Amino acid sequence: MISPLMKQYLILQYPGHNRVYYNLADRLALSELHLAVERFSVVCTNLDIVLLKGVRYLSFTAEHALSSDDFAILHRLSFVFVLFELKKVEDREMLLPLDRVAYEYLDAKISSLLKYPGKTNELFTKMMINVALLSSNFSFSDPITLLDPVAGRGTTLYAASVYGFSSYGIELDPKSAHESALFFKQYLQTEKIKHKQEKKQVAGSSRSDATYMEHFQYAKNKIEAAQPSTAKKLGLVCGDTKEAARYFKSEQFHLIVGDLPYGIFHGNGGKKTGKSKTRNPSALITDCLAGWKKVLKKGGCIVLAWNSFLVSRMELATLFEQNGYGVLHSAPYDGFEHMVDRSIKRDIIVAKKI
Ligand SMILES: C[S@@+](CC[C@H](N)C(=O)[O-])C[C@H]1O[C@@H](n2cnc3c(N)ncnc32)[C@H](O)[C@@H]1O
Repeated sequence: MISPLMKQYLILQYPGHNRVYYNLADRLALSELHLAVERFSVVCTNLDIVLLKGVRYLSFTAEHALSSDDFAILHRLSFVFVLFELKKVEDREMLLPLDRVAYEYLDAKISSLLKYPGKTNELFTKMMINVALLSSNFSFSDPITLLDPVAGRGTTLYAASVYGFSSYGIELDPKSAHESALFFKQYLQTEKIKHKQEKKQVAGSSRSDATYMEHFQYAKNKIEAAQPSTAKKLGLVCGDTKEAARYFKSEQFHLIVGDLPYGIFHGNGGKKTGKSKTRNPSALITDCLAGWKKVLKKGGCIVLAWNSFLVSRMELATLFEQNGYGVLHSAPYDGFEHMVDRSIKRDIIVAKKI
């Protein structure tokens, strides 16, 4: 029976600037939405993709109006552009736009300013962070610290900073690590965000075998920036992710999120222009899973994207399970696989430290 309190909500998907990703992203968005509604104070059903006057929306029904906390989760989802309530007015269907909930600690543009071959799409990155958080025992209001163990030039770190999370990355390639730290420093300076930058030694006993982290402590005002308890942090280690447990304290991270190397960089026109260090990611993660587990908190989640043409989901899941992680297999976790191009079928694996 339909209750008069019931609400139907429609979400217009963020157009972004990548048409390929936009066209693929509705199924991924539906999976992300499924995880989000699990956190809502209201029972939500009929999650679906619908066409209205030729325009695509994500739609769901709520038993009654969403709470302000529910809206705060909903507006963080990677695909949400405009949220509407569907209303019936004298037998006509009308879309009522709902207020956007602003949640950004830093302007979201930080994730899209840099352009380079091999960059992970920023909306996909935001989705991985959301999936990690919504699958963990933590919430957006916790003081989250995130690690990207294969950070590249930092897309995940910037997306996490937009949420006000502290974020750390490990990157093997010194040029990427250096450029990422340089970019973040310039960003903080341009936006006039109070900060302190330090180069810290995180491993090694002598100068020749030392590993360093470029560390930023920042906040929107001077007093918060000066206090470690109120300041946000972003740190980039130029090192090998196999050594994560040497660089960071045990149980330091609530979330680990990363886009594993694909072995292929995409230049203009989709030409193969180079190869990264590791082609098959199972060799890399076999060496890393124990260390990553050490630095992850109990109840924390790890989300990794990989090319499922290279390793099967089953193979990857077995590696995680052998290391004592709980892999999340069932729907909606089976709804994230998508083609990126002829050589990359991307999927994500979600595992929890239990
Ligand atoms: C797909 S890219 C990540 C791109 C990143 N999300 C971005 O948008 O800039 C994977 C990265 O993993 C790095 N990598 C490969 N092996 C590594 C290792 N053993 N330790 C740390 N980083 C590694 C590569 O250098 C590459 O930058």
